[in-house]
Amino acid sequence: MISRDTIDEIKSRMDIVDVISDFISLKRSGQNYKALSPFNNEKTPSFYVVPSKGIFKDFSSGKGGDAITFVMEHEGMSYTEALRFLAKKYGVEIKETVVAKEEQEALSARDSLYIVMNFAKDHYKDLLVNHEEGQSIGLSYFRERGFHDRSIEKFELGYALNEWNHLEELALSKGYSQEVLEKSGLVIRKDEGKHYDRFRGRVIFPVHNLAGKIIAFGARILTKEKDQPKYINSPETEIYHKSNVLYGMYQAKNAIRKEDFCFLVEGYTDVISMHQAGIENAVASSGTALTEEQIKLIKRFTDNVTVLFDGDAAGIKAALRGIDLVLKGGLNVRVLLLPDGDDPDSFSKKYSSTELKEYFQKNTKDFISFKIDLYAADASRDPIKKAEAIREIISSIAVIPDPIKRSVYIQETSALLKIQETVLLTELNKMLIGERKKLQQEQPQEGLSVDFPVEPPASTRLDTAGMVQMQERETIRLLLNYSESAVEEQKLIHYMLQEMDEVAFTNPVFNEIFETFKRMSNAGQEVDELYFLENGSQEVKTTVADLMTSRYHTSPHWSEKYHIYFPHEKEVIHDMAYSNVLRYKFRAIQKLMEENLQKIKLAVSEEDLDNYLTIHEQLKNAEREIAATLGIVVAK
Ligand code: CTP
Ligand code: MN
Repeated sequence: MISRDTIDEIKSRMDIVDVISDFISLKRSGQNYKALSPFNNEKTPSFYVVPSKGIFKDFSSGKGGDAITFVMEHEGMSYTEALRFLAKKYGVEIKETVVAKEEQEALSARDSLYIVMNFAKDHYKDLLVNHEEGQSIGLSYFRERGFHDRSIEKFELGYALNEWNHLEELALSKGYSQEVLEKSGLVIRKDEGKHYDRFRGRVIFPVHNLAGKIIAFGARILTKEKDQPKYINSPETEIYHKSNVLYGMYQAKNAIRKEDFCFLVEGYTDVISMHQAGIENAVASSGTALTEEQIKLIKRFTDNVTVLFDGDAAGIKAALRGIDLVLKGGLNVRVLLLPDGDDPDSFSKKYSSTELKEYFQKNTKDFISFKIDLYAADASRDPIKKAEAIREIISSIAVIPDPIKRSVYIQETSALLKIQETVLLTELNKMLIGERKKLQQEQPQEGLSVDFPVEPPASTRLDTAGMVQMQERETIRLLLNYSESAVEEQKLIHYMLQEMDEVAFTNPVFNEIFETFKRMSNAGQEVDELYFLENGSQEVKTTVADLMTSRYHTSPHWSEKYHIYFPHEKEVIHDMAYSNVLRYKFRAIQKLMEENLQKIKLAVSEEDLDNYLTIHEQLKNAEREIAATLGIVVAK
């Protein structure tokens, strides 16, 4: 909605050093700047800013991009939010492309909801500390629970008077409309026309969005009335969609990024107590079952989640459900169960911050050990229990989207339960196939989201998926850095484009970049990294920034695994391009083999079969030849 002109204007005015300096302090280092990573805890700086290119690169977290990306990453803002932020900083007037009238109205309707919610929050806060009822009932309750003033301020806790229309009347007198009060959920109107405040005689927990605006309230009862719910919460409104929100994310987001993991707890009071105990990377799903959207929200800040629940039956059930959802969202999950009868709130009050952290560290389990302990305390002796444990663990592994991660977990399970990997893989494949069938029945026209089957590993087996990723990444890196270098008596870019024409890239971002190189080259134009940094999508920019920085090293892991070693890159550019192309050919051959294998399976005449088998032999030979040149080992 922000016009192209405005975006260009912002980009032309923004200065990466200036922008980043607002958040962290940079040290000059030659032409560039250095700092400790704001995204990770580290002792030696690995965060670089390259002003000449307008980019930053954080080697500890892998994040990188331009000033807009930095603001997005650091502040957890969306692209538009970051643009608005920068426009304000540089005094750029935002011109919006013509927005439909309804959209405009929806926008201002939402603004008025934010305003009235903020008004209510300020008022509830004020009542808690300045009104007699607030003090004697609300504040003394929080004190009794051990909440410090600092926590009360940080979470902007408040109190709603025990009166039917107190907030409504005050708001009306200040000029807020009846309509907005009802839309915000602060006032309830019944069919008969009666209306009254939703929150009465309760302590108030405001719910913030990522930018710190109030979007909802939770209100806890203080008396023991039987027929009253313990919490009353805001309803869904235009600014509050319960399933997209995690309580405490606003207060926790920086700590989550720093610690690179996030505690997931149950309720408001758990989050606050954790913060008070010095553990600030905690958020709550607030009583509702965890949703996929909430997982995506966490993924904006970290890939690692520790679910922290009570050790009672309900807590375990919640933990189990949480595990699968987190795994399905592509995140890594660990589990921390508290002793039966404790929740994070009560538990954190019994121990000092140091003791607590120690306990957490000692008792956090990865989900596999958690499930093993849960289902098979004596699995080694009881085969039925063991089988059950296996199925339970595999069913969690089956929801993980990344096949490489799946195979790592299979290895771990195999080691822990002392069961052969092939047995586990068979079970996993059964589940994946079952899942695929179910998917096909549900949405027959759509593509499959589950990739399978997983092939049994032999210790010599090549990690094909990993190699493909690596080959694609390396291709793009070579193109970005050395496209004009000479290889085989031509420019590297021409050599690579001409040799790599058979299989599309699997990674969509790499593919986009590769296709752009191809298109521009065919049109006789030169492309360099700046072209992508200026014109690419956000993802392309980040990837390019990542690949073009000079401090690139192939990780020792890769080099060990694929026997690749780069002495001095510039000198061996020819060899690098050559082996990269070979890797690509290797992959193309594998694809041909797969297709040919299908034909073998479906062959109807002897003649056809003979034919295909001969092709198979030839392909296999070619595969071996390339593999030998590259020094990699191929499965039989
Ligand atoms: N919850 C709710 N409505 C209820 C009960 C619970 O919305 N009737 C939600 C709240 O978000 C609450 C969370 O579920 O924070 C966890 O519930 P519970 O453990 O009962 O509440 P706590 O916040 O831990 O409150 P307290 O420690 O005061 O008992
Ligand atoms: Mn609780």
